[in-house]
This record gives sequence, C-alpha cells and structure tokens, in this order.
Amino acid sequence: MISKGLKNVVAAETAISLVDGEKGRLIYRGYNAKELALQYSFEEIAYLIWYGFLPNDHEKQMISESLKNNRELPSYVYQLIQTLPCDMEIMSQIRTVVSALGTKEFGWKPTVEQAIRLTAVIPVITAAIYRKVNGEKIILPNRELGHVENYLYMLTGKRHSFALIRALEGYMILTMEHGMNASTFTSRVVSSTESDMVSAVTGAIGAMKGPLHGGAPTGVIDMLNEISNKEDAEIWIRQKLERKENLMGFGHRVYRTRDPRAEALSEITKQIGADDEWLELAYYVEKLAVQLLEEYKPGRRINTNVEFYAAAVMKAIDMSPSLFTPTFTVSRMVGWTAHVIEQSLDNTIFRPEAKYIGKQTVELQSLV
Ligand code: SDX
Repeated sequence: MISKGLKNVVAAETAISLVDGEKGRLIYRGYNAKELALQYSFEEIAYLIWYGFLPNDHEKQMISESLKNNRELPSYVYQLIQTLPCDMEIMSQIRTVVSALGTKEFGWKPTVEQAIRLTAVIPVITAAIYRKVNGEKIILPNRELGHVENYLYMLTGKRHSFALIRALEGYMILTMEHGMNASTFTSRVVSSTESDMVSAVTGAIGAMKGPLHGGAPTGVIDMLNEISNKEDAEIWIRQKLERKENLMGFGHRVYRTRDPRAEALSEITKQIGADDEWLELAYYVEKLAVQLLEEYKPGRRINTNVEFYAAAVMKAIDMSPSLFTPTFTVSRMVGWTAHVIEQSLDNTIFRPEAKYIGKQTVELQSLV
C-alpha cells in the first residue's frame, strides 16, 4: 500500500526530538523547546541537541569558544562567493558554497566537531552572500560576539539591542530541530549511504529551499501585504481557497493543533513590540484563516504553523524577506548535523520501493 509522501510512515528511531502532533508539543532531548527558547542561548541548546544534555558552565564556555574558533573561511570560499552571480537566489548560492566545503579536513565519519564547524560557518557564508548580493562590503566575524549576535552583526555591520538579539535567538532555537521533516529526512538518506556530512547538509539545503517547507515565511508576508486590511481578509482568503491554493503559514504533516512554535513566536513578537497595526492584522488573519480552513477542509484540522509567526518575528526585527529561509537554514544546521551523526550509527541504507505503473514488459523484436 503506497503512503504518498511517506505519510504516517515511521522511517527511523531518534533520541533527538519528539514532535507531538496531537498535543502540540516539541521536545528537545526531553526538554520542552518552548521553555528552552525563552531561557537559554543558541550555543547551549545546540550543545543539548548534539550531546544529549544541557552544558554546565565549563561545557557552555567550551561550545561557545569552539563555535567562535570555527568561523574562519578559507580564501577559496570567499572567492567562490564573489564569483556566483548576484541574481542567483540566495538559497541556491548557500547550497553551492556549502557543497564546496572540503571534507578532507573531516574524513567521512560524521562527528560533533564537523557539526560545530558547519554550524559556525553557515552564518558567515549566509551573511557574506547577502552583503555581496546587496553590493555591500563583506563583514568578517567578530570574536567578541555570540553566535546569533555575530550573525546579525555580519548582516548589518551594526550592534543590536539585547531584546532584538533575544527575539532572533528564540526563533533560531525554536527552528533548530524538528524531527523527520523533509530536509532532515534528506540529510539522513544521504548519511545512510555512508556519504559525508557536507553532502548530507547540501541535500538538506536543497529540500529546505522549497516553499512547502522552509520557503513559506515570504509567502506569509506577501499574503498579509496583499490583504492589507481586515475588511478585505475574508474575501481574499475565500478566493485563495476556492482556487485550491494553499495558505502559507498554515497546515502541517504532524501537528493537528496549533504549532507550539507559533505560540512561542507570537509571544516573542509581542515582547519586542512589533509594529502593532501589522501584528493586529496578522492575529485577525490567523484566526479567520483557521476558521475558513475548517469550513473548506472540514476535519483536516489545519492550523497555524511555525512560519506564520516566523514571518512576524523576522518583520519585527526588520530582517529582509530574502533572509527568511536562509536564517531558518542557519538554525536548522544544528538539527541536520545531529541527525546525520545519529543516522551514521545505524548501517541501514534508506531504500524504499516504488509501485511500477509503466508499460508492461515489451519483448524487443529480434534485430537480426
Ligand atoms: C515547515 O515537517 C516539518 O516539521 C516542517 C517544519 C519544520 O520545522 O521542519 O515544521 C517547517 O515546513 C512548516 C510548513 C511550512 N509550509 C507552509 O506553510 C506551506 C503551506 N502548507 C501546506 O502546503 C501543507 O500544509 C504542508 C505541506 C505543510 C503539509 O502538507 P501535508 O501534510 O502533506 O498535507 P496535505 O497537503 O496532504 O493536505 C491535506 C489536505 C489537502 O486537502 P485535500 O486534498 O484533503 O482536499 O489539507 C489541505 C490540502 O489541500 N491543506 C491546505 C493547507 N495545508 C493542507 N489547504 C489550504 N492551505 C493550506 N496551508
């Protein structure tokens, strides 16, 4: 029996996270991700995801230093970044540059050291590409700054308020890991052949790029800009649903209730005092969209997903929409690399079957 999109198929065991679709819970190594996002740093939760337990003070210092020590890029990577055309999509440039990171320094066996290296350089690569595309000088990493603040600094050349850094940090912790989503599954399939971690995350970036996966926040911003006021919301949503088009920021393969990350992100957005009018419209559209989705798709339990409020946080911190999916990629590098390591401990290659619906076997006429 075919399971389209591998719906409800359990493809692996994992100790990294639990995505509880019925109760709307996200658990990282036993801890509630929402609580972690509001109390810990990116570095501490990356440590938890990789090692399986929260770091003590010494381990926290160690992981912060390791990430800082691994930010440097070889000159050929900067040359490659400069060579790629400015009108090439940022995600395509990130995918291309990451794929060029050699594995000789790593060897094939995925390790936490490689995970740290890739997590340290992905913000540097992303910021360098973004600055180049915008005709600005590339800004090198600043050793004084933590992972998230350094990312913002390399993007803008400026220091930012604690509130704004914490808002982005909360978003990046909440999007760091999410079980067997399409991009993580891609990384595990590559890792299952005993290929290297760089190849695995390159495939994951390709999957993340798609609007059904990581590309949705831009669609949310476009939707709210097109709706622009409460009076036009209902007719806009109805027309979209009548055209059988999906509403970006809604629906999820696993969550049958509101995505817990949407909940946490909407609280973060309030804390940083986002643009009230825009946020007011977002809350109104969210409520109406869920009602209309139930009317048009009764029983599917289609609810708000992470991307709806990811868009709100990104807009509140004035992040360019062209950086939404790249920023998701910067945070999800932690989850991908953790799953690649976990998969490499299981020497079973992913190889499902397919139901042949092609032509019945045709005997080749003898040619002589
Ligand atoms: C992420 O998997 C993860 O964990 C992903 C993620 C992560 O952290 O890695 O959580 C991140 O990818 C969040 C999702 C971001 N994408 C979007 O917001 C795009 C809009 N959402 C949809 O395209 C959709 O909901 C998916 C792709 C997210 C989920 O698709 P499913 O589970 O395969 O559901 P489906 O397409 O089979 O839909 C079931 C029904 C269909 O109608 P019928 O064919 O039964 O009549 O529900 C409908 C769909 O048309 N439906 C929607 C809808 N989502 C599902 N209808 C309108 N708008 C939507 N958003």
